[in-house]
Order: sequence, then structure tokens, then C-alpha cells
Amino acid sequence: MKPLSIALGLCLSGAVMAGDGEVVYNQYCVACHGTGVGPMAHDQAAWQPRLDAKGGVEGLLESAKAGVNAMPPKGGCVDCSDEQLRDAIVFMTTSK
Ligand code: HEC
Repeated sequence: MKPLSIALGLCLSGAVMAGDGEVVYNQYCVACHGTGVGPMAHDQAAWQPRLDAKGGVEGLLESAKAGVNAMPPKGGCVDCSDEQLRDAIVFMTTSK
């Protein structure tokens, strides 16, 4: 039983280390932002005009919370805090 709980502990700490932004992205945003339904994650050419139009990450956070066209409010993560959404946006708008 012991080796199993150690392995489980490693998995859990790995998920935390990945960072909130990536975790939220992989859970809620990837369905659209990893498939081309929305601007693709890490595609800076797609994100730069949006960053410019909305005045940076804070502006995009506001429109992501409200929703834009096919983009649902909060990207479908109704329980996400502003901080988690902001982290996910930073994760998507920066290159890997
Ligand atoms: C159901 C599909 C879908 C999901 C899920 C989704 N998005 Fe989007 N998102 C879109 C689409 C489509 C657009 C482009 C909207 C437009 O400009 O017409 C978009 C645009 C955006 C924008 C740019 C808004 C702007 O003002 O230009 C941000 C920021 C964003 N999404 C963040 C997120 C985050 C963060 C998540 C996950 C928590 C997420 N999205 C989940 C479809 C989605």
C-alpha cells in the first residue's frame, strides 16, 4: 500500500506545480482554444491584436468574464476566480 500512496502523492504535487493557468486551460479552455474554435493557445499572431484592442491581459480578462460571441462567460469555468482566469489567459497568450 505504501508505494501506491507515494506515487499518488507525486502525481498530486505534479498537478499543483503545473500552475493554475495551465490546469484551468487544460480543463476548460482547451476544448476551443486548443482546437481552433477560438484563438489558439500560444499563437501570438492570433492574440496580439486582441491584447492591443483590449489594452492587455486585464482587458481580456474583463471580456473573457463577460463572454464574446461563441466564447462563453468565464470560458465555461463558472467557479474560476479572476486570478485563475487571468493565469489561463496569460498561459494562452504567451508562447511556450
Ligand atoms: C466554447 C468554446 C470556448 C471555450 C470553452 C473557451 N473559449 Fe475563449 N474564446 C472562444 C471564441 C470562439 C473566442 C473568439 C470570440 C470572438 O472574438 O468572436 C474566444 C476568445 C477568448 C478571449 C479573447 C476575448 C477578446 O476580447 O478578444 C479570451 C481572453 C478567452 N477566449 C479566454 C478563454 C479562457 C480563459 C477560457 C477557459 C477558462 C476560454 N476562453 C474557454 C471560445 C471558447
